Amino acid sequence: MVEEEEEETKYFSKDFVWDELKEEIEKDPSLAHHLLSFNPSSSSSSSSSSSSSTHSDSWKAFHLRHSTGKFFKQRRYLLKEFPLLLHDHRNNNNILLELGCGNGSSVLPILRANQRITVYACDCSEDALEMAKGTVRSADPSLLNRFHTFLCDFSKTGFPDWFVRDLGGVDFVTLVFTLSAIPFQTMPQAIGECFGVLRPGGVVLFRDYGLFDMTMLRFHPSKRVGFREYVRMDGTRSYFFCLDTVRKLFGDVGFVAVELDYCCVKSTNRRRGKSMRRVWVHGKFQKPL
Ligand SMILES: C[S@@+](CC[C@H](N)C(=O)[O-])C[C@H]1O[C@@H](n2cnc3c(N)ncnc32)[C@H](O)[C@@H]1O
Repeated sequence: MVEEEEEETKYFSKDFVWDELKEEIEKDPSLAHHLLSFNPSSSSSSSSSSSSSTHSDSWKAFHLRHSTGKFFKQRRYLLKEFPLLLHDHRNNNNILLELGCGNGSSVLPILRANQRITVYACDCSEDALEMAKGTVRSADPSLLNRFHTFLCDFSKTGFPDWFVRDLGGVDFVTLVFTLSAIPFQTMPQAIGECFGVLRPGGVVLFRDYGLFDMTMLRFHPSKRVGFREYVRMDGTRSYFFCLDTVRKLFGDVGFVAVELDYCCVKSTNRRRGKSMRRVWVHGKFQKPL
């Protein structure tokens, strides 16, 4: 999660052209391993790291280690990227579901900015949910009236029955650096769950790692666990999306792409004086009316 903390407060930025970055990377022999199709037998990373139970266990261990909340940084830019979060959407009691809420970096600015929104947040880690609640409570205890959490591993199971039954659907689903954190083969089912829980006209707000982001290029070849999929030292994983993959994943379950683009930002690491090229994917997908 450390990488996202470097994110600059620039929105829809086009500091460089993604196709030019792609061309440069394709010509660089030292990066050729990132482009190869994936052969599982050539990966020295533990094959068990691809199992779903290990996947969520790694995230649980991650949150246990980072339970000080040291990495907390509000993602205020979400309100600029997705201005519809500030206004009522089709009715005046909007419900938002944040999938994989972590320590609450995304939910806090949304709760603060829109007093008519109710946020439900899930995560596979109980510690993450406690941190998120603590984050919201310490910002303003009254926000807890509109903030509810529940434990759920959405790469394995759907949402709990009560969630769908009692709420009758949600208006927004936020997927912020969460889809990349689950195994690629479980993504279609997870996106299908999002489709199922949204009311007609409801929207998924998507923000995640883009293909050829600097953090992808830093992975050692032995850390590949799939095509464009890598595992970190701590067992958590990351997938890097190209636009076509995102379009297909969401389109296949019935979503209509309203916005989909790369966000290409040059940011400078002040400590090391190094310029870094960050690539994220920004997307907005609607369930048809
Ligand atoms: C990179 S963090 C993003 C957190 C948050 N969305 C944000 O904006 O900061 C990914 C989060 O997804 C959670 N996660 C990973 N796999 C999950 C799963 N299968 N089910 C539920 N949560 C999961 C992790 O525990 C972690 O909190």
